[in-house]
Amino acid sequence: MANVLVVSNCPSENTERLQNAVVKGCANDALEDTKVRALIPWDADADDVLWCDGIILGTTENFGYMSGAIKDFLERVYYPCLELTEGKPVALFVKGGLDGQGAKTSVERILVGLKWKFIQPPLVMKGEFQPSFLNQCETLGTTMAAGLEAGIY
Ligand SMILES: Cc1cc2nc3c(=O)[nH]c(=O)nc-3n(C[C@H](O)[C@H](O)[C@H](O)COP(=O)(O)O)c2cc1C
Repeated sequence: MANVLVVSNCPSENTERLQNAVVKGCANDALEDTKVRALIPWDADADDVLWCDGIILGTTENFGYMSGAIKDFLERVYYPCLELTEGKPVALFVKGGLDGQGAKTSVERILVGLKWKFIQPPLVMKGEFQPSFLNQCETLGTTMAAGLEAGIY
């Protein structure tokens, strides 16, 4: 059994599609008993982080940084979670316009402080929207859920 929390800001149709693909991946038919909670950052709090076995964060790159919504979420959960969630398996997907590196590194820096454990390198998607982005996001969700169910993470 695995509980997966997906927290991502979705300011556009494209970013909603990415979040939906991640959730779809977590709900892969081959997985037996994964529960997925998908929330926008404003609706997520430390209790959601404590509930989950693994967390998938998604953010757009805004002004060379993570979105304000994800930053607000991380600010609110940081201290309540700090002593309780060391080693939490985490994955990150970033949607940039032309870049995405600034959002990636800004989230990474905070997750170092939280001592959460990346299950794979962050997925950074930029440029014109590609159907392959959806495949990558779906795979990300399945990788997290399957790894948790198998006890790998
Ligand atoms: C206020 C604002 C600032 C942005 N800053 C950046 C940026 O610094 N780097 C970047 O690559 N994209 C930037 N973007 C583009 C967003 O990342 C992009 O709109 C988002 O990923 C949604 O993608 P979509 O247009 O494909 O739906 C910015 C967008 C907005 C609205």
